[in-house]
Amino acid sequence: MAQSNHDFIERKVGWLIVFTLLTVSVGGLVEIVPLFFQHSTTTPVEGLKPYDPVRLVGRDVYIREGCFNCHSQMIRPFRAETERYGHYSVAGEYVYDHPFQWGSKRTGPDLHRVGGRYSDQWHRIHLLNPRDVVPESNMPAFPWLDRPARVDDIEAKMTALRKVGVPYSDEEIKGARKALEGKTELEAVIAYLQGLGTALNAGKPAPVAEAAQTAAPAADALGKVFFEVGSSALPADATAAVNTAAEFLKGKADAKLDLTGYTDKSGDVEKNLELAKERAKAVREALKAAGVPEDRINMKPPVSITGSGDNAEARRVELNPAS
Ligand code: HEC
Repeated sequence: MAQSNHDFIERKVGWLIVFTLLTVSVGGLVEIVPLFFQHSTTTPVEGLKPYDPVRLVGRDVYIREGCFNCHSQMIRPFRAETERYGHYSVAGEYVYDHPFQWGSKRTGPDLHRVGGRYSDQWHRIHLLNPRDVVPESNMPAFPWLDRPARVDDIEAKMTALRKVGVPYSDEEIKGARKALEGKTELEAVIAYLQGLGTALNAGKPAPVAEAAQTAAPAADALGKVFFEVGSSALPADATAAVNTAAEFLKGKADAKLDLTGYTDKSGDVEKNLELAKERAKAVREALKAAGVPEDRINMKPPVSITGSGDNAEARRVELNPAS
């Protein structure tokens, strides 16, 4: 009997489709429906605020420009993800997102915890022409964003969001146009980016930036050389890191070294990047003096740290085995 039922379904394509849909939808519903009622998915995390008018407009520009085609906003709970991006995303961070920006397409990095990682100035330069701060970037430039943001539909947007549960007050909606006065789309997107993923640690800077600057050298880092404010002069205590790296290269005939220069967040971004480059060059000279041939040293693009990066830890050159 069971055999003939199976026979029947396999021979009648119409019934096969109906039963397949039925099975898949029951499976889907059992998985998804409980989430609508679960406390952890419907309650905002502490410190989460609805997007203020400027961020809301920035978010709409983000969607309009298709940033989501290359950037996801969801950090999965895997070690490789959390080490790169910070704390994994939790459902309560998205309760005011309509629509959410999760996705899995990552031509560019995940942006969920990008808030506070760079300065506004960095974002400005990066959005107008990414190559100016990340030489090998293939992200498109968005120069047209430097124009006034649209304000005439902001009340309607906020009212619509209120209908689906975002707790905007009448005063907030009334004051929205004023908040947007004189803002450009560029400023709005940057405000949106700077708020991303910051609620989970309200008050604290983005976890990744913090970890990158304060963690002890990673297991594979050969050393770090720390510099004085605004200076690219090689400090006396650089010898240890330089010698360790030279020893490492001597032991491995086909290994190379990556040099990355960093600066802290204060001051002009472009000057900082120049400074970071000079710092890396100073370390390269020291390595050459220690007998390392130049073709075994890769100069990586300089990095200007932002977010919480105003400390001595930020002003450094890192020596790493080339990957
Ligand atoms: C065609 C794919 C693409 C599109 C579209 C795109 N990006 Fe990117 N984005 C990238 C790539 C690749 C990188 C990594 C290189 C770099 O930093 O420029 C990146 C990097 C970034 C970074 C730095 C992230 C980090 O952690 O270092 C930010 C911020 C960013 N993009 C914002 C945006 C915004 C805002 C938009 C829409 C206005 C956008 N991107 C559109 C590909 C894209």
